[in-house]
Amino acid sequence: MSSIISVSNLVKKYKNVIAVDDITFTVERGEVFAFLGPNGAGKTTTIKVLTTLLFPTSGQVAINGYNPTTQQDLVRKSFGIVFQDPSLDDELTAWENLDFHGVLYGMDKATRHKRMNDLLEIVQLSDKKKLLVKTFSGGMKRRLEIARGLIHHPLIYFLDEPTIGLDPQTRNQIWNYIIALNKMEGTTVFFTTHYLEEAERYSHRLAIIDHGKIVACGDLAYLKDLTQSEHLEEAFLKLTGHEIREESAGTGDNIRMRLRARR
Ligand SMILES: Nc1ncnc2c1ncn2[C@@H]1O[C@H](COP(=O)(O)OP(=O)(O)O)[C@@H](O)[C@H]1O
Ligand SMILES: [Mg+2]
Repeated sequence: MSSIISVSNLVKKYKNVIAVDDITFTVERGEVFAFLGPNGAGKTTTIKVLTTLLFPTSGQVAINGYNPTTQQDLVRKSFGIVFQDPSLDDELTAWENLDFHGVLYGMDKATRHKRMNDLLEIVQLSDKKKLLVKTFSGGMKRRLEIARGLIHHPLIYFLDEPTIGLDPQTRNQIWNYIIALNKMEGTTVFFTTHYLEEAERYSHRLAIIDHGKIVACGDLAYLKDLTQSEHLEEAFLKLTGHEIREESAGTGDNIRMRLRARR
């Protein structure tokens, strides 16, 4: 069976910037696949091309067998997405945010409401569904966004830095939902992160992306073997020549990643 995500020689340029520089990889059905890289590596740009939001400069992409440039509707029905930046309507309730999304996907009321209740249960927001989203904490908003992206039973779930800015406990909780979903519904998960431990712990395979290029791709055992490393941090350093650094979680918007050149 063909791969559910297939990318060959993808290039994306913004005027003078080559954000994605000739990347090739595949993701198989049911996989949890991580795109690990520092700030500015090209992760969001890749997700945008895969999800029809940007056209590629060159190269081929197939999502569930469809072309994101010429078959946008079929591609869009195949995936759910959580963006890096929050995109909920603060002035609506949690329930209304989900309902609106279900309507956009043309779901009938009974199917939609059943799915909404099930998802609210999974992300533990059932008792908060009547509240306005503006009263929610950052973690609650993320959980609601995760539920919203799944309303239409997508085959593929794209998550762009799903836990950025959240405290460690909330990050674990978010991952529990994502992994449960992957197990229960077989949803293919493609996520980006600059947290080494998230890629290490939750992905089946990962691609390390740096300066728009995939420097290595495979499972953890393969990457450690390739670089003769004890853990992913060391493999990352050997493959890219620099460390991926992040400040400890829980500092809200203050989380940022620092690169330290290897001397
Ligand atoms: N709209 C844009 N116009 C010009 N350059 C951009 C734009 N968006 C991103 N870039 C540049 O492309 C590169 C990759 O960015 P991005 O895909 O957002 O990386 P990441 O998500 O890994 O942080 C960076 O150098 C960034 O500055
Ligand atoms: Mg990004």
